[in-house]
Amino acid sequence: MKHELKMLPPEDNFRTVRILEQLARTNRALAELKGYARTIPNQHILINAITINEAKDSSEIENIVTTHDEIYKAMTQSNYKNESAKEVVDYRSAIWRGYNLVKEKEIITTNILVEIQSIIEHNNAGIRKIPGTVLKNSKTGEVVYTPPETEKEVREYLKNLEEYINTDDMIDPLIKLAIIHYQFESIHPFYDGNGRTGRILNILYLVLKDLLDSPILYLSRYINDNKQTYYKLFKEVRETNNFEEWIIYILIGIEETAEETMKLIKDIQSEMEIYGEELKEKLPKIYSKELLEGLFFEVYTKINYIENICGVTRKTAMSYLNQLEEAGFLSSEKIGRDRIYKNDRLINLLKNK
Ligand SMILES: Nc1ncnc2c1ncn2[C@@H]1O[C@H](COP(=O)(O)OP(=O)(O)OP(=O)(O)O)[C@@H](O)[C@H]1O
Ligand SMILES: [Mg+2]
Repeated sequence: MKHELKMLPPEDNFRTVRILEQLARTNRALAELKGYARTIPNQHILINAITINEAKDSSEIENIVTTHDEIYKAMTQSNYKNESAKEVVDYRSAIWRGYNLVKEKEIITTNILVEIQSIIEHNNAGIRKIPGTVLKNSKTGEVVYTPPETEKEVREYLKNLEEYINTDDMIDPLIKLAIIHYQFESIHPFYDGNGRTGRILNILYLVLKDLLDSPILYLSRYINDNKQTYYKLFKEVRETNNFEEWIIYILIGIEETAEETMKLIKDIQSEMEIYGEELKEKLPKIYSKELLEGLFFEVYTKINYIENICGVTRKTAMSYLNQLEEAGFLSSEKIGRDRIYKNDRLINLLKNK
């Protein structure tokens, strides 16, 4: 049976007790995360670490399962052979690009989404031009939904979505986020990468609406863990036009993820503190706050990073890295022409999340 996708906004105002109660809890968790994240001095450390995990989780929905080890190799080597790991790295670049664009333009446009998708997919195919895209049940292969078919239709829906995203109304932004995600996935504007682009759109919307300062909350893990419900609710909305369960599902996801992200931030911070104290004690001559932060900026470091961060010569940077490795703060590996120094403690911390 064919279900026509409705244009936005929905007629409902979603003021049910269940939605409002959950909304309050979710807003509280999110506000706490935002406030806490603000107290962290080097925001880049946080965002980098969190987006590595998000890129990995999000790509797992697509079944590009890859390991942290493979990922940092792909990060350090542009001609690295592992395609999956490269996809994860591209996904992280797409998040950064989207974040910077939203910060600069203060709106989310179709063009931004097209650009994000092109980074994820590494091609300029853009919006679907050829009909024939259908969404199937992954187990039975049965066609469950046919998204808008012609390019003209897809563009009309996207224009409508763009307006909905950027126009303020009486609906709470978190409820709108749930609706936007449903609508974007149902428009399914691209040949591929709709899931990943849509999940990036979620975080960009949180930043646009000032619910977070930086891109640190991602639903991919939650969606992965609750995938069946995710697809079941898509179907329910499509068939009954009832958004309540879907909205609650997304709101719970944001609440749970905000709590988990808080925990991760605290773990990174305390790991950095312990590491810093140890560094001061064991290598007082080379310790500096800049060096410590530099070692947590990415999961790995290289000689020229240390040169820049610490403002020292190549020779000195090399000696720093040797000392750090000998004292057990880093472990090194030769990758291509470079020697890469890994912060294993940070890697392990992220691995276990
Ligand atoms: N029946 C459906 N109705 C609406 N959206 C759907 C439906 N089935 C799947 N989707 C959406 O389509 C996405 C998959 O589309 P696509 O393969 O283009 O994206 P992807 O990023 O490559 O994949 P993935 O989301 O699996 O990582 C899903 O993540 C989901 O959000
Ligand atoms: Mg796909």
